[in-house]
Amino acid sequence: MVKKEEMLSILAIESSCDETSASVCVDGKILSNFIANQTIHEKYGGVVPELASRAHMQHIVPVVDAALKQAGIGLSSIDAVAFTQSPGLIGSLLVGSQFAKSLAFSLNKPLIAVHHMQAHVLANLIDDPQPSFPFLCLTVSGGHTQIVVCHSPTSLEVIGETIDDAAGEAFDKSAKLLGLPYPGGPLIDKYAKDGDPRRFKFPEPQIAALNFSFSGLKTSILYFLQNAGKSNLFKEEFTATAEEKKDFIENNLPDICASIQDRIVSILLNKLKKASVQTGIRDICLAGGVSANSGLRNALEALGKKEGWKTFIPAFPYCTDNAAMIAITGYHKYMAGQFADLSVTASARAEW
Ligand code: KG4
Ligand code: ZN
Repeated sequence: MVKKEEMLSILAIESSCDETSASVCVDGKILSNFIANQTIHEKYGGVVPELASRAHMQHIVPVVDAALKQAGIGLSSIDAVAFTQSPGLIGSLLVGSQFAKSLAFSLNKPLIAVHHMQAHVLANLIDDPQPSFPFLCLTVSGGHTQIVVCHSPTSLEVIGETIDDAAGEAFDKSAKLLGLPYPGGPLIDKYAKDGDPRRFKFPEPQIAALNFSFSGLKTSILYFLQNAGKSNLFKEEFTATAEEKKDFIENNLPDICASIQDRIVSILLNKLKKASVQTGIRDICLAGGVSANSGLRNALEALGKKEGWKTFIPAFPYCTDNAAMIAITGYHKYMAGQFADLSVTASARAEW
């Protein structure tokens, strides 16, 4: 492919958790988004950091190669290298950041360090139609739950966040209590489709301002199951035998999943509605792995219609972790002249 002078090609790498991904974006359009999932963690019931880093090391070269091929672009046509700098598992981040830094150094091209949570929000700028600025974004992933005001691609403000578990953790931990394998979020979604969301009423936490809490919900589900659903009081009583609990879950799985999902969704959307009233912003986006949840997607659309919002949800491959969102963020940071020095280091946590 012949590179025209005005074309800006960015290669992006994402490796913050258990997905190794690479993407190429040209002039703000995504040409490829290659993702290698790691199945090794399933049998451990969660991501094992050391195994994740090793898998990233095995995947990174073939994944970058595949992304370049899919885009029909050679390394010599790349104008900048973007990578996830934080937050995430430090060993995983180090694989992607060292690779990106080495590549930028050897190609003598600029390096762009990207914050993973900013990238989840900007996933809404990949496809058309796009939200107008300022927009609100509810970012719901395995590690974060935030309401963000996006003033511009490079000016974002967190106005609410979880004080304990993230929404994805609430899904995954609830699934674990039901004996479902990791990650349980998509399985709760699947079983909930055949269930009655009004059958069991889990309590809604009363948390100040625009913040969230999900740890109380997890405890109520634990007590509810220990009582085999006999009481809706969610007290720490063990009125059911292990056998009764198992039978109760087996016989009521769709209704339990639908009721849990319904409560998580209502906690999220009640705060989003409050945020829209407080800020007066009516362009509303979702982002992060949990935005793949069909209950949340449908409920946002319904609420949006009722409230007169314009709603936006990224396409499925851009909801869970992916390098396309790093590439689009890299593009906007490039345009704003925000480059990183080769001395930049990966960081498990970072404010933004
Ligand atoms: O954004 P993400 O891929 O990774 C992080 O940055 O954390 O989010 C992963 C989270 C997991 O907790 C997973 O269970 C959840 O997203 N998730 C879902 C669904 N698909 C992924 N939760 C509920 N319903 C889904 N369909
Ligand atoms: Zn993520």
